[in-house]
Amino acid sequence: MKKVYLDYAATTPTYPKVAEAIRPYFTEIFGNPSSIHRFGQDARKAVESAREKVASLIGANPDEIVFTSGGTEADNFALEGVAFANEKKGNHIITSKIEHHAVTECAEFLAERGFNISYLPVDKFGIVDPEDVKKTITDKKKAYISIPMLSKQPPMSRSMRKILALIFYQFPDINFMGLKGLARFI
Ligand SMILES: Cc1ncc(COP(=O)(O)O)c(C=O)c1O
Repeated sequence: MKKVYLDYAATTPTYPKVAEAIRPYFTEIFGNPSSIHRFGQDARKAVESAREKVASLIGANPDEIVFTSGGTEADNFALEGVAFANEKKGNHIITSKIEHHAVTECAEFLAERGFNISYLPVDKFGIVDPEDVKKTITDKKKAYISIPMLSKQPPMSRSMRKILALIFYQFPDINFMGLKGLARFI
């Protein structure tokens, strides 16, 4: 029987150009980028060049880009890191009811430590209504938002664009985490 793989939201085969671009770093330029010797520094150059490229995709400074080992580490780093670093400023976290458990477990951990968590509903396509985001923000200087950005459904892109516009133009002080969405929004 022919097998069909339908889980591209979880992982995909590596795009051939990506595999080709990364191949030298498995075989020739393999030094530890934190090492001061030449092998390490060659690898370091590649990491810094990648950081600059990612930064330019979203208009950030390279020193604002942090590479992690994967999604769970990024969720913990971003959600708990931002929450604890700004604890005195605000403690409201807005997320959705369909988050990956790496996010919900962070949210539960933060709830136990006094953070106020709002879980927004989604429609049948898994989409958060931007109006719900707006209604749930009680203090525009004190909220952190974590909502999945990735969906193949066009309504998700439309909804996310509205949420992004809302945040950037009306609530510039809140922190926003858009998970897995970069490639869909550039
Ligand atoms: C939002 C989110 N966080 C974490 C993960 C898990 O990522 P990893 O296995 O790289 O830790 C996923 C995986 O799909 C995810 O969608």
